[in-house]
Amino acid sequence: MKTAITEMFGIEHPIIQGGMHYVGFAELAAAVSNAGGLGIITGLTQKTPELLAREIARCHDMTDKPFGVNLTFLPTFSAPPYPEYIAAIREGGIKIVETAGRSPEQYMPALKATGIKVIHKCTSVRHSLKAEQIGCDAVSVDGFECGGHPGEDDMPNMILLPRADEELKIPFVASGGMADARSLVAALSMGAAGMNMGTRFIATKEAPVHDNVKQALVAATELDTRLVMRALRNTERVLKNAGVERLLEIEREKGRALKIDDIHDQVAGVYPKVMIDGEMDAGAWSCGMVVGLIHDIPTVKELIDRIMAEADRIIRGRLMGFLDAECIASLKVA
Ligand SMILES: Cc1cc2nc3c(=O)[nH]c(=O)nc-3n(C[C@H](O)[C@H](O)[C@H](O)COP(=O)(O)O)c2cc1C
Repeated sequence: MKTAITEMFGIEHPIIQGGMHYVGFAELAAAVSNAGGLGIITGLTQKTPELLAREIARCHDMTDKPFGVNLTFLPTFSAPPYPEYIAAIREGGIKIVETAGRSPEQYMPALKATGIKVIHKCTSVRHSLKAEQIGCDAVSVDGFECGGHPGEDDMPNMILLPRADEELKIPFVASGGMADARSLVAALSMGAAGMNMGTRFIATKEAPVHDNVKQALVAATELDTRLVMRALRNTERVLKNAGVERLLEIEREKGRALKIDDIHDQVAGVYPKVMIDGEMDAGAWSCGMVVGLIHDIPTVKELIDRIMAEADRIIRGRLMGFLDAECIASLKVA
């Protein structure tokens, strides 16, 4: 399947694995790229730029295919040394960067200097337009369903994607709630040139996380995510667990007076506990509503091959079947 995204990134299938804290290591990124998608290493999971350089080198050892690095611009006072992270990305020969969080404007010259393609992930049309204006090559449009930070507009993809299609000139991929061939075909029909998946890729054999996490994803339903940190305007969609229930209790008690320090134990240092140690009640970790569509733990290649084969069946079988014979004949001639 050829789209503006497969052409831009030199990949076989229009499927991207979004950056994920403590999940997006070289093993997963390489598996996705080897399967014909675009794998992405999560930059800030590597505690220093030197460690990121090492992770990039490890990924080069595992795949000859293109892969990218995610750089999340956090709303923190003690910002990580982004210029050094960007230097590691450039020196590692990376040609694709997924940015997220705050606008990457300040870092665009450094990223573009070595011809890096930038795909910015954002949750609104206005931020997508801003990304286009500052020279991003593509956008990953993240709907309210998504795991992670859906922003504060609460706009689901059935509206957000067609709105992005109405406004954007650069290509975009659909992100949030994407799991299978139905997601891909729906996204394409709403104007997207591919899809970005987070949560779905965690439940794969190669995802380098504790098996408890994968089993929890298979067991959970679409009703099992919670929104936390709304009062801080830093909303995150997470999988419910005992730590998250405690967090929500504190949020109810504190109301609008909530401070980040009040929920420190439920949000700080949680990812290694969950992803490495498998402590499923440790606190808040991102998970999308799409968890309700995850019923198995395939290899990444099985997952991607299945999506592409079923997308073909949906388009040729189901959708083409709705057209009358004369129309199909004219399409074949064209
Ligand atoms: C466990 C987890 C960790 C994530 N960490 C990050 C991150 O560090 N940076 C980022 O830009 N997005 C992060 N995301 C968001 C994903 O890249 C992606 O945009 C999102 O998962 C898409 O929604 P979906 O989960 O419904 O597929 C994370 C998502 C999950 C599930």
